[in-house]
Amino acid sequence: MNFQWYPGHMTKAKRQMQEDIKLIDLVIELVDARLPQSSRNPDIDELGKNKFRLILMNKSDLADPKMTEAWTKFFENKGYAVVCLDARNKSSMSNINRVIMEACKEKIERDRKRGIKNRPIRAMVVGIPNVGKSTFINSFAGKAVAKTGNKPGVTKGKQWIRLNKNVELLDTPGILWPKFEDQTVGLRLALVGSINDQILNIDELSIELIQYLKTAYPGVLKERYEVDEAESNSDILLKIAENRKCLKNGGELDYAKAAALLLDEFRAGTLGKISLEQA
Ligand code: G4P
Repeated sequence: MNFQWYPGHMTKAKRQMQEDIKLIDLVIELVDARLPQSSRNPDIDELGKNKFRLILMNKSDLADPKMTEAWTKFFENKGYAVVCLDARNKSSMSNINRVIMEACKEKIERDRKRGIKNRPIRAMVVGIPNVGKSTFINSFAGKAVAKTGNKPGVTKGKQWIRLNKNVELLDTPGILWPKFEDQTVGLRLALVGSINDQILNIDELSIELIQYLKTAYPGVLKERYEVDEAESNSDILLKIAENRKCLKNGGELDYAKAAALLLDEFRAGTLGKISLEQA
């Protein structure tokens, strides 16, 4: 399978990010907890150097908790502050402010020594498409009002959301582009639905998913679809079509329907908490 990311989008997104990042103290980077490596672009490390860094392992409600724990340690060992999150859940936002204060304590201390009081930490949210940036901003900002920043050091036209007396958030997130070092990255992003299904071969994708589940999570397919995991991947898909009555108008088995059903159920977490990448 071939995955494409258009260089024009990439250059524009990068240029915008370079501009925005000058205005902030803290980069809040969202990754998908099911595939923390493939859903981030390490270029952000260069773009965000000298900034405080927070990684949010989002969609952790869908990820394998053991893997998420290993990834949390992995990122913490590299010096990032890390929080695991379901961005849709507003109640999980309460500790993020605390983590931000902790992550930026050097700056707060520096300001204090220089006699600067009440200068809020400025943050921006970044991440690849579909990782949950808008959902997070909505949940985190809650009822906070957006305020235009027309003061020194704040570019005209940028909207800042004042979250509380300590933190201001740039209201538009920075879009990172996935880094397609190899086809595995594209495949994993496609499996979680981060690449538009219209450009993908759904049958092929579902066969890849079957292969992965058989190896990494044996028993899951058997339990959900009553299939024999010793059979070939295409026979398993056929069995899913049979057992779930995925039929065309003439009564013939509909593989495409079975493939879409399998992918939908995987993406919705119906097959359980499943991760695609090991730390
Ligand atoms: P983006 O700005 O980074 O592009 O992502 P966005 O917030 O639009 O989120 C993309 C999809 O991911 C949305 O679903 C959103 O509800 C879902 N999502 C975001 N965070 C989480 C999370 O922590 N857990 C889970 N399970 N889902 C999350 P959608 O299907 O596009 O829309 P809808 O189903 O919410 O209508």
